[in-house]
Amino acid sequence: MPPCLLALESSCDETAAAICTLEGDLISSRIASQIDIHRQFGGVVPEVASRNHILHVRPLVEQVLEDAGKTLDDMAAFAATSGPGLVSSLLIGTSMAKALAVAEDKPFIAVNHMEGHLLSPFMGDHGPVRSCVALIVSGGHTMLVRVRGVGDYELLGRTRDDAAGEAFDKVAKMIGLPYPGGPEIDKLSKQGDPNAFAFPRSFLDGRSLEFSFSGLKTAVLYELPKLDLKDTQVLADVCASVQAAIIDVLVEKLVLAAKSCGETLVAVSGGVSCNRGLREALTTRCSLEGLQLLLARPDLCTDNAGMIAFAAAQRFNTGHSSPLEADVDPNLSLVS
Ligand code: KG4
Ligand code: ZN
Repeated sequence: MPPCLLALESSCDETAAAICTLEGDLISSRIASQIDIHRQFGGVVPEVASRNHILHVRPLVEQVLEDAGKTLDDMAAFAATSGPGLVSSLLIGTSMAKALAVAEDKPFIAVNHMEGHLLSPFMGDHGPVRSCVALIVSGGHTMLVRVRGVGDYELLGRTRDDAAGEAFDKVAKMIGLPYPGGPEIDKLSKQGDPNAFAFPRSFLDGRSLEFSFSGLKTAVLYELPKLDLKDTQVLADVCASVQAAIIDVLVEKLVLAAKSCGETLVAVSGGVSCNRGLREALTTRCSLEGLQLLLARPDLCTDNAGMIAFAAAQRFNTGHSSPLEADVDPNLSLVS
């Protein structure tokens, strides 16, 4: 069995651990989700999240080792997400990974959560990380990035206000759906008419690679008094129309970014990329435009430690490790 590394993810409300080989093959991965705990508050409560990370992190490490049939001694390095995210949550994963690194006398690797998402479409049999235009759509970020190789990233555009996932979550809250709203809107959209409401698509000026989703939220807010949301068809129509508005912008900007860079490979990741409608729209449009599309595997779209292990392995293979004094950074940037 080839050498492996163990990675932890605790940037928000999921505690996760994973082991992958240094070639990047995922061999075990577990997630302890706190969604049910935070749902009653309508969003993530940082203090509650960090307490639960403490409860879950050690059992998860033991479980992924057992699943992989490995011991700590078999690990070549220990990695953890060091930002961006909630400070009190990030500290749990990084402290654990650092402690394991010290105890086993192995390197510690701090991983940028967004790099984990960014590289996740290359996991599995999608081949080595290579030049592409990447779209990352998560709860906190919406970014277009030009990737020239591991660690060589150029920011092409980001959101000016809400992230795509945030837009899903905020609209869902307004129409009475539970947190997190993205999967709920996705589910209800199946029965809805995407053309029932003409919600705005903010393309900004035609050539801009930036995003803006706050106008969509306001448009839904103005529509609300006219709607009978107890009518399941009306609710489904609102969901389908909101989802279509978000998807149209994401697909259009990704194609524009790829064309403006002369790039034929595009990679899409982050929690929103498990949206069924987005995956279908991307597949259709990319094939029309002659673009090769890499989509993160659905179970690797939302937060997980597999993507952190994969990113850590890419870094480890280039001789990279992080000092134990390296602090967490809630605003850690992907590009310097
Ligand atoms: O990447 P992620 O797990 O966490 C962050 O790094 O933010 O993304 C979470 C976001 C949430 O906003 C959630 O509503 C959204 O991803 N999401 C979805 C779907 N599944 C998760 N949005 C739309 N459709 C989905 N199926
Ligand atoms: Zn994430």
